[in-house]
Amino acid sequence: MKIAVIPGDGIGVDVTAEAVKVVEAVGRRFGRRFQLDTLPYGADHYLETGVAMPPDGHRMLQAEFDAIFIGALGDPRIPDMRHAREILLETRFQLDLYVNYRPVKLLDARFCPLKDCGPDEVNFVVFRENTEGMYVGVGGRFKAGTPDEIAVQEEINTYAGVHRIVKHAFEYAAKTPRRRLCMADKSNALRHGHALWQRVFGELAPQYPTVEAWHLFIDAMAMQLVKNPAQFDVIVTNNMFGDIVTDLGAQLQGGLGMAASGNLHPGRTSMFEPVHGSAPKYAGKNVANPIGAILSSALMLDDLGLAVEAASIEQAVADVVRAGQGPRDIGGTLGTRETGDAVVSAIEAGA
Ligand code: NAD
Ligand code: IPM
Ligand code: MN
Repeated sequence: MKIAVIPGDGIGVDVTAEAVKVVEAVGRRFGRRFQLDTLPYGADHYLETGVAMPPDGHRMLQAEFDAIFIGALGDPRIPDMRHAREILLETRFQLDLYVNYRPVKLLDARFCPLKDCGPDEVNFVVFRENTEGMYVGVGGRFKAGTPDEIAVQEEINTYAGVHRIVKHAFEYAAKTPRRRLCMADKSNALRHGHALWQRVFGELAPQYPTVEAWHLFIDAMAMQLVKNPAQFDVIVTNNMFGDIVTDLGAQLQGGLGMAASGNLHPGRTSMFEPVHGSAPKYAGKNVANPIGAILSSALMLDDLGLAVEAASIEQAVADVVRAGQGPRDIGGTLGTRETGDAVVSAIEAGA
């Protein structure tokens, strides 16, 4: 299997090295051959060459690789994130990775900032629409930099785009023991675009009688996620709201360093990445938490049909962190590399 590895910027580089180590360990243990090809796309490459991605880069990723693993992008030298838009967002768009799958799973009660919350209370998944919404870049600036500036940023919602992500969430809920599906929107204020989400949700719900479909406005969802996360099994929402609630979800798991994600188009080359960004202040210091990246590699192997191998990574991570090992942000004493080593040892020991 051929995997494109894009470490990217900042701590993306640090955590990707650990995810790669873990995938290689799984390969050795289960006799799988992974060809991991590292690609240089990121801030340094952009500043050196003026090119964020080669012109046929997205097509090449899709045609030549079974999966893509990406660390994080973002560099203070490129404040408008031009390179990241081309590398990260354009890969989501060009490869049509319409499902942003972000599980929120607390591994140990110690990591959760809420009182009386353990693994039984925090265990849900978020499906974030990943190809439309506010992210498409429709709009513009008129008289930029003047006192008369007008800035327009349109939110795009298409019937096909909303339908496929909401349907994906219903299908997931119907197939798993997690039978409650909550859709979040802001249809009380955004009465055009989010009326479409209401319409689609209302059309699909009767087709899934075993799924308990319910709705919250996004502001109320933010509150309920803190008040009582146990009520959530599956969440579906738009691109922007999904971005925000998954940082909240990350903290429920112990912090941004713990959260994993997959950008999926079922059946096609998909892209996996931790939820966090490049955290420049921690870059290269051997302090970043690599667990979100390592768990993202488990999502990747699962998507590639390697469920046993993926489960081994998840078990190894659970064993390590429940034993009190792990990086400082979750109360451990290990560095980034030592955390990766501990997960590798757990895999080698038979996790
Ligand atoms: P961030 O996720 O990089 O970091 C926010 C804070 O969370 C950090 O200061 C740190 O305290 C903590 N944190 C994040 N990841 C951690 C880890 N692995 N281990 C330990 N602590 C961790 O978000 P930001 O500061 O808003 O953004 C920094 C840059 O990253 C920006 O350029 C932003 O645009 C970019 N970004 C990229 C991605 C991505 O590539 N997927 C995601 C989010 C932000
Ligand atoms: C994420 C990130 C990205 C997003 C940024 C870097 C554009 O925050 O993957 O969550 O908003 O999707
Ligand atoms: Mn984000």
